[in-house]
Amino acid sequence: MSVGIDEISFYTSSYYFDLRTLAEVQNTDPEKYYVGIGQEKMGMAAPDEDVVTMAANAAMPLIERVGPDAISTLMFATETGIDQSKAAGVYVHRLLGLNANCRVVELKQACYSATAALQMACALVARDPKRKVLVVASDIARYDLNTPGEATQGCGAVAMLVSANPRLVSIDPEVGNYTEDVMDFWRPNYRSTALVDGKYSTKIYLKSLKRAWESFREASPLAFEDLSRFCYHLPFSRMAQKAHQHLVKLNKAIMAPEQIDEQIEPTLSYNRIIGNSYTASMYIGLCSLLETCRDSLAGQRIGFFSYGSGCVAEFFSGTVKAGYEQFLHADRHQQMLEAREPLSYDEYLKLYRHPDPRDGGEYELPHVTRGRFRLAAISHHKREYIPC
Ligand code: HMG
Repeated sequence: MSVGIDEISFYTSSYYFDLRTLAEVQNTDPEKYYVGIGQEKMGMAAPDEDVVTMAANAAMPLIERVGPDAISTLMFATETGIDQSKAAGVYVHRLLGLNANCRVVELKQACYSATAALQMACALVARDPKRKVLVVASDIARYDLNTPGEATQGCGAVAMLVSANPRLVSIDPEVGNYTEDVMDFWRPNYRSTALVDGKYSTKIYLKSLKRAWESFREASPLAFEDLSRFCYHLPFSRMAQKAHQHLVKLNKAIMAPEQIDEQIEPTLSYNRIIGNSYTASMYIGLCSLLETCRDSLAGQRIGFFSYGSGCVAEFFSGTVKAGYEQFLHADRHQQMLEAREPLSYDEYLKLYRHPDPRDGGEYELPHVTRGRFRLAAISHHKREYIPC
């Protein structure tokens, strides 16, 4: 019996900010963003959107197919959670109409926690193959204005149904891990934007890739040549290109530059126009691969490198199933991305600075999102989510 991803769906806001506009305002060459970091646009959440509404939007199409009673556990991965105590997934549980006997938990370790959720989901399904586990990962990436990180913001959520005999990607049990206590990126409880030592973070990312890969090679019978495509954590798309060149070099693989590119390029399309979505980012990269790759991926082995600052990293592998094309949400995803609206610099600043009330007052939020769920009010420190 194989276990893995049976269905995958993602959501991002209907609003984006073009990095050409940012470059204009900053008097910077736009090629620094479009080429240097490989990013074109970044998703900006509406005032009535947060990690809960985005996650519910990503997951609803999956629940409409399998029915709310099919889910035994909901795992919610995020590093931009809205409560220090209550799991964001409990709101999502209600919005999706899941069964009261479904367990819910929130997981955190920077961008890595969706992978922890996926691995735990696979273990739960292996223990009881009749069960389906819903893994959601949802984040809004925010850095301070006028810092190097600003161009690498974004927002998005992904939902994955994990089951026995999955229709999209089976996940292999062997993994390679690497953990080290470092301060490359962090966000203390009292801050709404992340702090980052940018250049250092890219070095630690590459070091973790090497160490997680070595650990994977000890655990798995697979060699570099057995993997035909690679999904990397995507803080920005150039990071994945650098990471893959690093891995090719480590393995002394003789490959033409076009071949190296081909192994990762289809994973980058969505990220370039959504930006960093932290926990969701590598899995939106997987969607991008499955939905935009012109060649059939059936039977191909994929390598995954998941990285969360701080830091925890994991290298693992999976195999794309025959017939996977029939079970994708590609058209809906394309329509959602094409229907997005650009923001002017002032509109971007207005969304960026939208207040997050903390005084226990009563606030109604304007209906701005085009998603299926919204944050309608914050009243006496309670967030009120409703379907639109
Ligand atoms: P920077 O200092 O503004 O950029 O910040 P730069 O000056 O290093 O330029 C970037 C690249 O653009 C360079 O290429 C330049 O040469 C090139 P490289 O040398 O790297 O190959 N460039 C140009 N190219 C074409 N035309 C031009 C031009 N000008 C320059 N005119 C930095 C870059 C990544 C540091 C910044 O964006 C940042 O701090 N980002 C946030 C941190 C981050 O994303 N780190 C990634 C690794 S950590 C991670 O992935 C975890 C994370 O997702 C969080 C989590 O786990 O929760 C962040």
